[in-house]
Parts: sequence; structure tokens; C-alpha cells
Amino acid sequence: MRVLFVSPEVFPLVKTGGLGDVAGALPVALQAAGADLRLLMPAYGGTRAATNAKPVAALGDPFGLGETVVLQGRLPGNGLKVWLVDNPALFDRPGGPYQDSDGLDWADNDLRFALLAWAAARLSQPSSPLAWKPDILHGHDWQCGLAGAYLQAWGGPRPGIVFTIHNMAFQGLFPSSLMPRIGLPWSLYTMAGCEFWDQLSYLKAGLVYADRLTTVSPSYAGEIQLPAGGFGLEGVLAERAAILSGILNGADYRIWDPATDGELSRRYGAEEVAAGKAANKAVIQAELGLSADPEATLLVVVSRLSDQKGMDLLLAAIPAALAQGAQLALLGSGERPYEQALLALAEARPTQVAVRIGYSEPLAHRLQAAGDVLVMPSRFEPCGLTQIYALRYGTVPVVRRTGGLADTVVDATYDSMLQGTATGFVFDQPTAAQLQWSLERAIGLYRRRPQWLQLQRQGMAQSFTWEKAAEAYLDLYREIRPVGISVKSSRRAQV
Ligand code: ADP
Ligand code: GLC
Repeated sequence: MRVLFVSPEVFPLVKTGGLGDVAGALPVALQAAGADLRLLMPAYGGTRAATNAKPVAALGDPFGLGETVVLQGRLPGNGLKVWLVDNPALFDRPGGPYQDSDGLDWADNDLRFALLAWAAARLSQPSSPLAWKPDILHGHDWQCGLAGAYLQAWGGPRPGIVFTIHNMAFQGLFPSSLMPRIGLPWSLYTMAGCEFWDQLSYLKAGLVYADRLTTVSPSYAGEIQLPAGGFGLEGVLAERAAILSGILNGADYRIWDPATDGELSRRYGAEEVAAGKAANKAVIQAELGLSADPEATLLVVVSRLSDQKGMDLLLAAIPAALAQGAQLALLGSGERPYEQALLALAEARPTQVAVRIGYSEPLAHRLQAAGDVLVMPSRFEPCGLTQIYALRYGTVPVVRRTGGLADTVVDATYDSMLQGTATGFVFDQPTAAQLQWSLERAIGLYRRRPQWLQLQRQGMAQSFTWEKAAEAYLDLYREIRPVGISVKSSRRAQV
């Protein structure tokens, strides 16, 4: 089974959130489970050197922006083969993969991700300049959405197409005038195609031209078929419900395990969780200027600062938790008003609240180890990896019952504590009052150490492995056949 796995971000090369973690780990698990896989992503600045990539094929100049070349390298750490779409005018620039260093979207994201999708489609054709051709083209999020549209437009044999939705809120909407610019025929610009309320939708293209759709948790697969979760595309998804499934993400425990995590002041397993966390907490309190109080419940947040993540709920509920003696340590970046409100809170209560605006992989690990509670009051959450990592670090999650949060955290009730299944605190409605009540429950239980330890250990014993998810994806790949390619003629040489 040859799989071309296309993603706009891949950890450790480029990461803005959970998709980076997924694309850095799922391909490794798929390969280990027997798939023959190539990872395809843009050649952002620095990726060429990091993967030691060399040119293997020229793809021409479809958009008149200079020659596009495919580079082949290896992913650091695991040696997975990675193909970089090299077009310096579009991808080689300082800043993030989607935004400049001031947080503004790149003005040419339409062309950048049309080219990524175009390259994926081109490498999936029998006439691709590379000998290795995929049986399955697996793309992720709107940035890869147009790949199926190109293959539809070009006709002829093609691989089976799987499209994975990581977030319905990001759709890649652009003016329709782009169609000819990126070489797509008007015949695809219809309600049944990639038109969405008079605009070209890269996400909708991903949804309508795939053979199978997946999303990253079973609950989210249901939610996106309803108006509250579909962001206008619920009808398209409900219509395609028969080919839509939710496959829960895994965690890469080689990177997220407190027993081996090189970022921590002190490593620990489930047996030493109390002492291990106390040591990490004392170091973080000193480093962030919080009072050196081992008894204060340390609430941590590692998050994009957005409405999705319920940052308004956090701001409204946190004063009551602070009044009960809790501390808050937050790492995040995103919408300016949230950044400013959080910084103001930290300035007003410097020994109780510490806020770091920015992106820091090491600090994210150290907060997971130091925290007593991870707060994640998301309005919606396709899967969420942060709470899955928190469970492994013995950091008890307080989450809203939505999407992947509902599928991964078990509320601590009298019964679930007795049965030994409780792993965190889960509230139903996205209101400050419900979050506040859940935080109070958490702070209250933290003072009852034997029960708290039980909750931590139950969380640490959970295992959300990529091996399990990879098997589910492979089963799905096996269900679909390439279109117009006989099995015999698709058996080609390897690059
Ligand atoms: P999402 O993808 O919606 O942002 P996830 O919980 O799936 O949410 O994944 C978030 C990932 O990004 C986690 O690996 C988390 O540790 C990381 N992360 C989020 N914000 C930051 C930050 N400011 N600094 C470092 N890592 C962050
Ligand atoms: C998206 C979602 C998040 C999910 C991640 C990886 O960023 O917001 O819930 O965990 O993708 O699938």
C-alpha cells in the first residue's frame, strides 16, 4: 500500500498546533504497520537543510511563479522519506507557515496551498516524473483540499483519495476569480463542487472530491454534521455521512512521556508522580515568579488563544479559582484581545498568575509536568492533543464535553471514582459558571490527596497510541481502490 501523505505542517520541522504533531507521528505508525509512505509538504525555509533534501524531479511552472521542484529528504529522528515542494517565491521566507511574524495571514496563501495540492495531484498521476506512485492520496485540512479537485479536472487514472478534517473553522475561502489563475476549470465551480456562498472553498473541495472523509474523533464526526459544528458545511457532510468516520488521534509517547522527557527538571513515572510533580512545580513557580507554595493548585494552560479554546470562559472563571488560592500558568498566543487581557491579569496578580505569550515547545512540556490541572474549556475541539498529553503527565484535565475532549476524558463522579475510570473533570455547557464549578471541584479534590493520586494514576494509565489509529486508517485505505489503475500496472518501481 503506497500512501502519499500531504500536510502543510509536520513536527519537528514546522508546527503551529496539533496537525503538526499528527503529521509527525501518524506516518511513522503507518509505515511501521506496513504502508510504503511518502510525506509531502512545502519546502519552507530551513526544511531543506533539516531533512538533507536533494532534488529528485522537476514539476514545471504551473502558476508562472518559477520552477517547482520536488526535493527528497528524511525526517529527523525517524528517517521517514519526505518530499518537499520547492518553490522559493512561495515558500522560502521567514515567518510561520500561514502567517508573517506579525500574525497576519500571508497574502498569497491561496497560491501557496493551491501549489501544494497541485503538486500532490501531479505526483499521483500515472505521468508523474517520479517512479513511485501512490495507491492512496491522504490530505489534511483546507491547505490540501484542492488535490482532489485537480485530479477531478484532469480526469484519467488516480489513487484513492482520503481527506482528513482537523478543524471545520478553517476553510480556505477565496474569491472565485482565482479559479483560472490556479488552473481549475469553471465546471468545478458549482454547488456540488467547490463553490461555497459565492466563494471558492478549498475545504469544500477536500470534502466533495474524496473517496473517504475522516475526522479526528468519533464525537466530532457527529458534531460537524449539525449546524453548530459544521460552519455551513454540515449539509455537505451529512450527505456524505456514509463515507465519513472519526478516528481518534494518538499521542507520540516517545515525545510526550514524563518518564523520559528531556525537558523536565525531574522525570517521573506513575509511581513517583507526587514527588516528580512537586519538583517540577517548585522550579516553574520560581522561574515564573509565582509564590513558592506547594499547596496551591497550579492550573496550567497551553493553547492557541482563541474563541474556539474558550479563553473568554477562562478569563471569566479564573478570579473565583484564584480566590480559592489556586495559581495559573499560561503559555499561548493568538488573538490580541486575549493576549492583552491575560497579560493584564498577570500584571495585577504577579505571584498568582504567570502568562507567557509566544510559542515554546520546551515550556509546553515543563508546564505539563509542573501543573496539577490542565484547563481546556474549548467551545469545540476536533480531538485535542493537549489533554491527552496532560493525562500522561498526571495533570488532571478540566475540559468541556465536546469533540475529542468528550472522547478522552472521564468525569470524576462518585461512581467513576469507585469504578476506577475517572480521569478528569468534564462540564457540559460553554459557560463561565460551569467552568468555575469544575475548577472548584478540582481544587477541592486536590486537597484530598489519596483521591487525587488515584485520579492522576488513572489518567497516566490511559494509552492513546498511534498504532491503534494507524490500523484504523489502513483498514480505511483497503476499502478504496485506485480509480482506473489495475493492480498490476500500479505495481511500479520505488524511488
Ligand atoms: P490545536 O491543534 O487546536 O491547537 P491540540 O491540543 O490538538 O490543539 O494541539 C496543540 C499542540 O500545540 C500541542 O502539541 C500543544 O502543546 C502545542 N501548543 C499550543 N500552543 C503552544 C504554545 N504557545 N507553545 C508551544 N506549544 C504549543
Ligand atoms: C486541530 C484541532 C485539534 C486537533 C488537531 C490535530 O488543530 O483544533 O482539536 O487535535 O487539529 O488533529
